[in-house]
Amino acid sequence: MRSIFFTLLTLTALLHAVLAQTSIEVIPGVPFSGPSVVQYASQSSLFDAPKVQRLNDTTWDWWYFDAVSPDFDYSIVVVFFTATSESLWPGTTDVGSADYMVVTLTLPDGTTLEAGVVGKEVTVVTVENGSSGIVGNTSSGWVGTPDMKTYTISIDAPEFATTGTIVFTSTAPAHFPCSSDISSAGQRLNLGPTPIFGWLNAMPDADAFVDLDINGTSLSFTGIGYHDKNWGSQPLHTSVNSWYWGHARLGPFSFVWFDFVAPDGTELVSTYLSRDNKVISSTCDGATVRPVGDGAVFPPTPVSSMSEPQGFNITAEVEGEGTLIMQITHKKVLSATPGTTWRWIGQASGGFGNGTTWDGPALYEQFTFSN
Ligand SMILES: *[C@@H]1O[C@H](CO)[C@@H](O)[C@H](O)[C@H]1NC(C)=O
Ligand SMILES: *[C@@H]1O[C@H](CO)[C@@H](O)[C@H](O)[C@H]1NC(C)=O
Ligand SMILES: *[C@@H]1O[C@H](CO)[C@@H](O)[C@H](O)[C@H]1NC(C)=O
Ligand SMILES: *[C@@H]1O[C@H](CO)[C@@H](O)[C@H](O)[C@H]1NC(C)=O
Ligand SMILES: *[C@@H]1O[C@H](CO)[C@@H](O)[C@H](O)[C@H]1NC(C)=O
Ligand SMILES: *[C@@H]1O[C@H](CO)[C@@H](O)[C@H](O)[C@H]1NC(C)=O
Repeated sequence: MRSIFFTLLTLTALLHAVLAQTSIEVIPGVPFSGPSVVQYASQSSLFDAPKVQRLNDTTWDWWYFDAVSPDFDYSIVVVFFTATSESLWPGTTDVGSADYMVVTLTLPDGTTLEAGVVGKEVTVVTVENGSSGIVGNTSSGWVGTPDMKTYTISIDAPEFATTGTIVFTSTAPAHFPCSSDISSAGQRLNLGPTPIFGWLNAMPDADAFVDLDINGTSLSFTGIGYHDKNWGSQPLHTSVNSWYWGHARLGPFSFVWFDFVAPDGTELVSTYLSRDNKVISSTCDGATVRPVGDGAVFPPTPVSSMSEPQGFNITAEVEGEGTLIMQITHKKVLSATPGTTWRWIGQASGGFGNGTTWDGPALYEQFTFSN
């Protein structure tokens, strides 16, 4: 498996090295002791490449993937981190390297399984726009095509007796936080008002095929997939007070939202809507994401047993279409970490208020930090 992975990476790199923009970066698991260089303006290529050069104790960069089955039986989140615990979750145990993969899987009975691997470094090869990475000397990593139309994740976590692959085929074009013109250099990549927190969405929606072996039991499902990346130039909890983020497939539409409350209380939004693999809207204006139900407070406060919202109402102005109005109700909790995270899978339903509505699966979260 390991050699197949290396061959894929090497071939991709070789084939395109002379033809295209390529970057090869080795991100050591021991962070650099001086300032990192962090990117917040787009280049005309290398969309999904690392955005932090010389990762240190307080900067961070991650590649995130998920998939949810349309019947809500299964969901999986895979994150490749390059970050110390100090930069992301101060007070938690360091895994001994800044470079690691975490897999979270939910099963039909609601149980959650976790698996992971740690590497001495992560090597990331980017050809044109798609990146590929491998964690240390393991067989865990991801391979993206130059056009970002396909990503393949390979999971090999011997300590958890978990192996497998996830193949994502994009059904929605990539976008920046406030624009889908990804060939234009100099576009803003920060979500908040100041350039401290970056976000890029390579696969706003995808068909995902998940095929795993968990300690001798095989498990496979097809579902709705997604891939993005975040990065930052200071510890996460000092960069944001809270956010709501998620993605949903509504009939022919793919919808992604980010509602972000900066440390100074400023609320910023980013929404994206595509239909039949064509972008309709990608903007930082005209949207609200609000919790509903008994536990609903806005802005959200750090997680406590009392503050789980029962769902969300989302509205987004879509130029040429009207106002998208969408409700989400939870089906399952994917993960909950006291003090910071709720992540759910649920049912989205909505439309443009003209009588036609669509339903579909959503995967979404609420993060809160007490500053
Ligand atoms: C890490 O990099 C960030 C961004 O350049 C910088 O603000 C911070 O001071 C750096 N930390 C150290 C220890 O140099
Ligand atoms: C991989 O690296 C780990 C340390 O990060 C080491 O313990 C292990 O022996 C290495 N395995 C191989 C096959 O090189
Ligand atoms: C795998 O299953 C065997 C029993 O069939 C058990 O002894 C072992 O602990 C399991 N391994 C893991 C990583 O769960
Ligand atoms: C990569 O993105 C650039 C714009 O950022 C675009 O011009 C180019 O066609 C893309 N390459 C591929 C293979 O999609
Ligand atoms: C959420 O949306 C539904 C349907 O549009 C509406 O009835 C309800 O009042 C909204 N709730 C909140 C808290 O905005
Ligand atoms: C309502 O608007 C949507 C989006 O423009 C469109 O696809 C749908 O056909 C419209 N429905 C009606 C009944 O006009």
